[in-house]
Amino acid sequence: MKSVTTLSCLAAALFAALAFAPVATAAQSAHRDMFILAQNQSPQRSPDVPFVPTKEEVVEVMLKLGEVDRNDVVYDLGSGDGRLPITAAKKYGARGFGVDIDPNRVREARENAQRASVQDKVKFVQGDLFQTDIADATVVTLYLLPSVNMKLRPKLLAELKPGTKVVSHNYDMGDWKPEQTVNVGSHVVYVWTVPERGQASGDKK
Ligand SMILES: C[S@@+](CC[C@H](N)C(=O)[O-])C[C@H]1O[C@@H](n2cnc3c(N)ncnc32)[C@H](O)[C@@H]1O
Repeated sequence: MKSVTTLSCLAAALFAALAFAPVATAAQSAHRDMFILAQNQSPQRSPDVPFVPTKEEVVEVMLKLGEVDRNDVVYDLGSGDGRLPITAAKKYGARGFGVDIDPNRVREARENAQRASVQDKVKFVQGDLFQTDIADATVVTLYLLPSVNMKLRPKLLAELKPGTKVVSHNYDMGDWKPEQTVNVGSHVVYVWTVPERGQASGDKK
């Protein structure tokens, strides 16, 4: 569906360019229209969660509870301005990966990584977190919504290596019970460790 929409947009731009421009400049017009489309990218579908950044003091607690160190690969699913992977790289020497559905967030995260001089340690991509390969992660951070966490839970349990830490800001995972719950002011941080396959409490048989 996503690629059909994208193709339709590109086809519309091409058609407009070819139909309304003089023949001699059709190719340039098509190129220009595609360039404008790329410049004004909007999310490929509506985000499941709006952008609300995690406060810095909560970021610190999340990375501490995730026991992040230089050997870790920290994935933030719905990475916003990139602050979790960037802090993990800057402060702990970890590698970081972020995926966000909103291209403007991805651009901002890449700029922030440059500013923090960790662009070689972090990668930000535009995409749907549900379609993202997460198998490389050793720590996963989340600031989503209860329903999105619940929809994501089977993917986390199926694709992450046993022993991977999952750290969620404010929202739990239903009957997959956290091993730690820490209050940070009015915020809550939950921590799980991915068990051997099929061993999570609440794991559907
Ligand atoms: C509440 S913000 C959290 C940002 C960042 N993780 C933080 O803690 O500061 C949620 C982010 O998820 C992104 N998002 C929502 N639905 C998504 C999806 N299906 N795939 C990827 N990103 C998504 C939004 O664009 C937004 O930037």
